Amino acid sequence: MSIRGSSLLGLTEFAHRDGVLHAEGVPVPVLAERYGTPLYVYSRSHLLGQYRRLAEALAPLDPTLFFAVKSNTCGAVIATLAEAGAGADVVSGGELFRARRAGVPADRIAFAGVGKTEAEIEQALREDILYFTVESEPELERISACAARLGLVGRVAIRVNPDVDPKTHKYTSTGKKENKFGVDLERARRAYERAARLPGIEIAGLHMHLGSPIMTRDPYVQAVEKVGPLLDELKTAYPTFRHLDVGGGMGIAYRPDQAPFDLDAFAEAIVPPLKATGLKIGLEPGRFITGNAGILVTRVQYVKDNPFKKFLVVDAAMTELIRPALYQAHHEIVAVEGTAETVLGDVVGPVCESGDFLAQDRDLPAVPAGGLLAVLSAGAYGAVMASTYNSRPLAAEVMVSGPRHELVRRRQTVEDLVRDEVMPRWE
Ligand code: LLP
Repeated sequence: MSIRGSSLLGLTEFAHRDGVLHAEGVPVPVLAERYGTPLYVYSRSHLLGQYRRLAEALAPLDPTLFFAVKSNTCGAVIATLAEAGAGADVVSGGELFRARRAGVPADRIAFAGVGKTEAEIEQALREDILYFTVESEPELERISACAARLGLVGRVAIRVNPDVDPKTHKYTSTGKKENKFGVDLERARRAYERAARLPGIEIAGLHMHLGSPIMTRDPYVQAVEKVGPLLDELKTAYPTFRHLDVGGGMGIAYRPDQAPFDLDAFAEAIVPPLKATGLKIGLEPGRFITGNAGILVTRVQYVKDNPFKKFLVVDAAMTELIRPALYQAHHEIVAVEGTAETVLGDVVGPVCESGDFLAQDRDLPAVPAGGLLAVLSAGAYGAVMASTYNSRPLAAEVMVSGPRHELVRRRQTVEDLVRDEVMPRWE
């Protein structure tokens, strides 16, 4: 029997054995049968492996790895990483709630985002999180006012925009001067001076995030170089200035011919200049940890032969994984049970949009109706960006660990979809 792509994207946790795709020790058809499709499947071992690889590569810095919860908010995923020592990078009151619920200690939480509300700031102040990464001067004022009201102090790391090109999709590039994120490098001094005058603020450090995914070390090296002189000034000016958070963005391989993010080269280039700052270093990895820890399993419903094109119509859609529609992102799609035959066409979902595709004009495994496909690299920005458009209940999520599997989010029901609706009574 043929073994297709026994090493998919170099992953050990998702591989074909005797022609059947396994998630760690579990045959994927067993999971599809047990939990239904579409189904997200996460590998615990991959999550922990990626976290540890990063921690080990950067060990000389003894960094705090704030897991970017936005990449995957599943409680079981956050808890797995929290147990391994991860902190959390959160961008809303909801993510803060999830991180705390999953066991992340408050003093390992950084709160980012351009539009924090008063309610969210107060929630974070009461939780006594490590710091807010601050995006603007008006936000500094708001944090100070909230803190003063509560008789607390808000620790802040101002997000500086170093104007470095991360060479990624324009929607996910954040560290260029035309992006909405951060404070311009020229204006940063003024922002720190203003922060120092505010009663409810303690200056804790400096934050950057350049974009996502970033495939080389160069943008990080350039950004650290660019902020170097400012860091020296800030350390001298403010005794409480202790943290340098270089954000996330470290990429993963989405294609078999794509070189993975070179962690060793990254560490070699970034550790010496970061160490030289004498500051407590933080990173905010999301995709690097979760991206290839997840697959989306879907069942072919119909094979549709139009005169111009062949379509595999599957039961997953842009509602489960919007990245192909939104960013023209490439996700490998493989047959769960081995077939060496391929067919040129699209993989599409049932949603009423022409943008509803998971792959376009690609050599696809010739899986008949009823067969299973796996969409790879779906662990980051997959389930979290799902919607219930077309009244499609959110998919179930499962975690595997060796031979074991656990449902970590049950499939929504149609009752769940209408639970929060209220029928008005006008009479
Ligand atoms: N820190 C900050 C401040 C961020 O804004 C982000 C991502 C991260 C860390 C984590 O980046 P990562 O390590 O996961 O690359 N939905 C898009 C990605 C948006 C990323 C937004 N910010 C996608 O599907 O590619």
